[in-house]
Amino acid sequence: MHRRKVGIIGAGAVGATAAYSLSMMGTCNEIILFDIAEGVAKGKAIDIAQSTHYAPNSTIITAAESPADVEGCDIVVITAGVPRKGDMTREDLLMINAKIMKSVVEDVMKYSPDAVIICVSNPLDVMTYAITRITGWERNRIIGMAGALDGARMAYQIYNKLGFGAGQIGTLVMGDHGQNMIPLPQKVQVGDVPVNELLSREEMEEIIERTRTGGAEIVKYLGTSGYYAPGRAIAHMVEALLNDSQIVVSSSVLLQGEYGYSDVTAGVPVVLGKNGIEKIIELELDEETRAKFKISIEGITSGIDILKANHFFE
Ligand code: APR
Repeated sequence: MHRRKVGIIGAGAVGATAAYSLSMMGTCNEIILFDIAEGVAKGKAIDIAQSTHYAPNSTIITAAESPADVEGCDIVVITAGVPRKGDMTREDLLMINAKIMKSVVEDVMKYSPDAVIICVSNPLDVMTYAITRITGWERNRIIGMAGALDGARMAYQIYNKLGFGAGQIGTLVMGDHGQNMIPLPQKVQVGDVPVNELLSREEMEEIIERTRTGGAEIVKYLGTSGYYAPGRAIAHMVEALLNDSQIVVSSSVLLQGEYGYSDVTAGVPVVLGKNGIEKIIELELDEETRAKFKISIEGITSGIDILKANHFFE
């Protein structure tokens, strides 16, 4: 019998929370954690495995001793990376994390050659691009986790404004997973009611701004970035793939002409199913959103250009 197996590379805050969320939902048979920091994957795997005693379904949680143990996975989630430190430039961080992607992905290609990869490491869109180029795999198998999280943050802001509709609020965030992200609350519905029937233009502007700064707000309070919502967003995507749900979730994907762009990854609404990205949905964008999307693409492209200038793909 085929076992539903998920590998998580990087058992830090986000990776471990994704594993915990998945095991509480009973989505997969097996989760294997790997981390370069000795003991981290082992300690988290033991803790999460013990938590499954009270979960609705059993999930086997183990730690990999080496990358070779992350073998035969249906899905590999990559959260490995280093956070930006005070003296690092954006370029330094980008090159460090890109090199981590290269070593991690070479192992995935060897040991889980049929997997779908969900990239979580930042800068998200550029790392997703790097993985697409390194693997040379069909683009449907490399998915950047961005809109699932940013959408949840947008829905939270809409609920906070309305005070009703929790769990009934649609989500749509496009573009990059950074300062130029494009939350589109005006496009979504609460229940079956379009949001623009419920909120004024000013209120929506506020929601857009608060969604964009949603990650930073958590850092302000915690001194570290969030991990519950990112972990749950990853689990939501893993569930969609394993269950072949064919649901729409904004994700970062290599564009090949969609929205007028190629050779760049960016967040757009896609359909998720057993093959990864089953379909890219091309929305008709108004002029203002098109202009914002262009700015977002330019930001991502400048990151990709740094990789190219450093001969990363040669
Ligand atoms: N192989 C495996 N694990 C690695 C490697 C590597 N080559 N390099 C670093 N790691 C591990 C670290 O040891 C650490 O445990 O990746 C983990 C990252 O976890 P955290 O530092 O706790 O970061 P987290 O908050 O989980 O965020 C992970 O997701 O949202 C993004 O920007 C965020 O890129 C970051 C990633």
